[in-house]
Amino acid sequence: MIEFILNGNKVQTDAAADTPLVWVIRDEFGLKGTKFGCGVAMCGVCTVHIDGNAIRSCSYPVSAANGKEVSTIESLNGEHPLQSAWVEEQVPQCGYCQSGQIMQAATLLKSNPNPTDEEIVNHMNSNYCRCMAYTRIKKAIKRAATSSVEYFDPNASKKGENE
Ligand code: FES
Ligand code: FES
Repeated sequence: MIEFILNGNKVQTDAAADTPLVWVIRDEFGLKGTKFGCGVAMCGVCTVHIDGNAIRSCSYPVSAANGKEVSTIESLNGEHPLQSAWVEEQVPQCGYCQSGQIMQAATLLKSNPNPTDEEIVNHMNSNYCRCMAYTRIKKAIKRAATSSVEYFDPNASKKGENE
């Protein structure tokens, strides 16, 4: 039995140890926001977070998630600054790559709330978009960057008041 935390809830699975995590997330737990593309860790559409780090769930055996925290696009609940920025910049075209793009970008803003263009490109350059939405993806990450400080630290606006 493999056990892990999925979007804040403890879950268990009897899946074979080498089953790619993406299929357990999608087929067993019904979270369809995580997509499958290349299957060989090249395109990024299957990106989820394990203990806060972006990983490729198509190439990540479910057994490796045992005891860890797994977060999918559904965990952002439509409330992440990237998601509103994505809407404002009208980023998606077909949409297939977008959950992976957002999950990849979310780890950047968490560690670096105000990235440069170069830092964005370096962080995102292995997440492919066949619709070539790269310019809008970069603009949306820049737009989200300013608001992400408070998202990750709700007390940020109060800091300094008592100093
Ligand atoms: S489907 Fe996982 S990286 Fe392409
Ligand atoms: S929006 Fe179509 S693949 Fe990225």
